[in-house]
Amino acid sequence: MTLTNSEAYLLCIEPTCAKRYRIDERLYTCSLCGALLDVQYSFNLTSSATQTKNIFRDRRTIDSDLERSGVWRFRELLPFVNDFSKVVTLSEGNTPIYRAPRSAEYAGLKELRLKHQGLNPTGSFKDNGMTTGVTQALALGASAVACASTGNTSASMAAYAARAGLRAFVFIPADQIAYGKLSQSLEYGARVIEIEGNFDDAMRLVRELTQETDVYLLNSINPFRLEGQKAIIIEMMEQCEWEPPDWIVLPGGNLGNTSAFGKGLAELKELGFIDRMPRLAVIQAEGASPFYEMFRSSRESLSPVANPVTLATAIRIGDPVSWKKALRAINWTNGVVERVSEQEIADAKALIGADGIGCEPASAATLAGIKKLAQSGMIDKSDQVIGVLTGNLLKDPNYTIRYHTGELKLEEAGMQHQIEGNFANKPLRAAANKEEIRRVLEI
Ligand code: F0G
Repeated sequence: MTLTNSEAYLLCIEPTCAKRYRIDERLYTCSLCGALLDVQYSFNLTSSATQTKNIFRDRRTIDSDLERSGVWRFRELLPFVNDFSKVVTLSEGNTPIYRAPRSAEYAGLKELRLKHQGLNPTGSFKDNGMTTGVTQALALGASAVACASTGNTSASMAAYAARAGLRAFVFIPADQIAYGKLSQSLEYGARVIEIEGNFDDAMRLVRELTQETDVYLLNSINPFRLEGQKAIIIEMMEQCEWEPPDWIVLPGGNLGNTSAFGKGLAELKELGFIDRMPRLAVIQAEGASPFYEMFRSSRESLSPVANPVTLATAIRIGDPVSWKKALRAINWTNGVVERVSEQEIADAKALIGADGIGCEPASAATLAGIKKLAQSGMIDKSDQVIGVLTGNLLKDPNYTIRYHTGELKLEEAGMQHQIEGNFANKPLRAAANKEEIRRVLEI
């Protein structure tokens, strides 16, 4: 059952162009001006916002493929699908929001909640967008899909493509992605090509190749991906009883998620599901922070970083494709952009672990950013804050082990920067006898 007569189309985001296209056109950018595209709707919901919220909630008790998904449960707010029997889903979304008292204290806040997108089927928030992206790929009759990735997009695309019976081509920067992520793409049967360059090179090449062939591009430049990622915000607002927090904080790399959050919030507000906008805070790693630089200098265009560097490899991106949509999201929400150091990311990650939650390095930029924004007074210590953890702890075990054993180092331009294990929890070692173990454990 779907309670909408809404109409969907593609719309160029450049206000001076605003060209419309049908949603069955295979386009990633505007063919007139080259700008990004939105999936746009003339919303026509057949129930009130309150009734629709109740329907969303009631669906959680129904054990069917569509209702079990934390994306398709909200399908009236992403009404671009005609045939729901062809949806490709792995029961994505439905991720918890945890209270995180140790992380709150660390950041200097009274309270902090963390929404853990790393508890998705393939361990990252990408699954929310991949269910919609791969569903659209099938609807368009694609037989193969492709993406460039720092690891999570590829893991997710590989899984959803396998479910859909589509061939998958994954372009990753050689030696720059975490092993957990690479292993997923291999296991799900994608053809993995390690490009001798960085993510931005891989992104440029996959864009060119998908223009020249009929392989369907599933990076977040594809607006159908962002429709699914929008559901992270819808679900978050549902979990808050539709009472937005003061701040939503997330890491920024290619800036697809920031873009999706902005669009989701704007639509919820327009449709009367929420009555005010929370502020977005986007956090980048210092060595890969072109969006931060743009924000800080109030420039209107982004200058790419040629050689981005960070141990948070998920966000090691110098030329984010969605920066214009992300800037729009910052403007709509009176948002801010901050950047954090490698040391701040590493320590924040250990603190999230200490709350019994855990996440991958890029996700910890969220807590590091919250701490920095609280210290500067931008976030008040009584503000309601929800941080988004984007990926699972197990994605990058090497990083975690190195931090706890004091071996985490950033290599840059031939130099090595040691990351201190300020909250390290080194494994202990003992001979195989009880007395020795008691001595080592002090019990
Ligand atoms: N956190 C994690 C764990 C990610 O994997 C990514 C992006 C981000 C944050 C940043 O999100 O790009 O929407 O700003 N990973 C992409 C990938 C680029 O290929 O997996 P963004």
